Amino acid sequence: MQNLGMCSDCHSPRHEKGQFIPGRYLEGTVLDFQPMHPVPGWFAASPPIAGLPGWTRGEAVRFFMTGVDKYGKHSGPPMPGYRMSRRDAEAVAAYLKSLPAGRK
Ligand code: HEC
Repeated sequence: MQNLGMCSDCHSPRHEKGQFIPGRYLEGTVLDFQPMHPVPGWFAASPPIAGLPGWTRGEAVRFFMTGVDKYGKHSGPPMPGYRMSRRDAEAVAAYLKSLPAGRK
């Protein structure tokens, strides 16, 4: 199964020392990096994915397998367009659904 740590890189808030804030895992955050050159459609922040708010498990599985989100679009940079196997996609979706949704 994929290492969900890579999702945290962009989706978990950190405090000023660069460490993850306990209890706010995968709640979405302002990204602390930017492209050197402007990239059209670049997102400066990531959405919360703990609990997958607004997503059914099936929508999330399809998104992780195809890179096409529930709106029928590819998500904006720097969100990678994953092409996970069904097993991995289902495991990731099930894990995210099992997390408590953030306070936002
Ligand atoms: C390099 C940074 C980065 C990484 C790594 C990353 N994300 Fe994202 N993610 C983003 C950004 C930025 C957005 C907002 C883009 C958008 O909404 O189009 C986003 C959006 C999303 C969305 C909403 C997509 C949409 O189109 O509405 C989901 C779900 C998501 N990420 C899940 C994940 C999962 C699961 C992982 C790990 C397997 C992951 N992300 C790894 C940056 C990242």
